[in-house]
Amino acid sequence: MKVLGICSGRKNGNTEIMMKEAFMAIEEKCGAECQLVRLQEAEIRKCVGCETCMVNHLKGNWDFRCVHKNGTDHFYFIEQLMREADAIIVSSPAYNLLPTGPMITFLNKLHASGNYRDMVHKNNKIGAAFSIGGTDWTNFTLNFCKMAAMEFCGSYEALVDAVHFDFVPSVAAVVLEDEMIARMHKFGENIADALLMKEKGEKPSYVGTKGVCPDCHGNMLEIREDGVYCPQCLTKAKLSLVNDELMVEFTEEEMAKNRWSKWGQDLHDNNIRKGHMKAAQGKDIIAEKRKKYAAYERAVVLPELIKE
Ligand SMILES: Cc1cc2nc3c(=O)[nH]c(=O)nc-3n(C[C@H](O)[C@H](O)[C@H](O)COP(=O)(O)O)c2cc1C
Repeated sequence: MKVLGICSGRKNGNTEIMMKEAFMAIEEKCGAECQLVRLQEAEIRKCVGCETCMVNHLKGNWDFRCVHKNGTDHFYFIEQLMREADAIIVSSPAYNLLPTGPMITFLNKLHASGNYRDMVHKNNKIGAAFSIGGTDWTNFTLNFCKMAAMEFCGSYEALVDAVHFDFVPSVAAVVLEDEMIARMHKFGENIADALLMKEKGEKPSYVGTKGVCPDCHGNMLEIREDGVYCPQCLTKAKLSLVNDELMVEFTEEEMAKNRWSKWGQDLHDNNIRKGHMKAAQGKDIIAEKRKKYAAYERAVVLPELIKE
């Protein structure tokens, strides 16, 4: 069995230490081979939005590659490690309330992974996520890491554990926090248990930090004109006050319309198709009308860079 830990923090920093604590527990409990990817060291070229991968995906053609050729960055090297992994752990520190840039850049490139997503949708891997912050200004970090883990592992149902730790600003200082280290050891044990269960054909369940959304275990709500939603799953929630306590409820009917369900994914793909079709039909008008905006050049000219 193989476990891949994708880490977007500093080399030998808090996130990496926590990942290694989990690895030690996994190795002790089930002997799985654990490997760490340091995203901060990996070269991942930014998605340029050419949409080659998306257009191929919508046509059902999985045999495509990113315009950034294999070997010009580390994307496909890491993607291959993901293919070989039975479990994937996604982790990041909080930077400006979010995960760090390399994690976001890496997730943006996942569209270029050919049949990877289709493969994991059909056969989920075990997933887990954790994050860490210098203070408690960390709101979106774990939610994003869980979303990345879900994308890498096929579904939110693949997640077995997720946890966030606050108030660790200094490099490696997490070693002072015995409770956090113990929780991370348990996190590793939970992944090992899930791997062993899966091997026996049993389905592991989620044992991570409880959120409000039963699908993604996220703890955010978005208020729209027509109601309240889980912003991650786009599942509509029902709010009520019971004895001055706010209750959040998601009906089965609304949960079936989760954006990550087959129904949601198909709707999304169809919406993209519709948008492209409209653009294809209007391509002459687009070519004509966009001239005005292209000629209206206000972008600053970026200076030459100094080579360090
Ligand atoms: C550019 C930058 C932005 C940061 N933003 C936040 C933040 O928004 N909230 C927070 O709690 N910590 C923030 N931090 C602190 C890190 O999350 C914290 O130091 C963490 O432990 C780093 O993990 P690492 O050692 O694995 O890299 C920030 C750090 C940096 C360098």
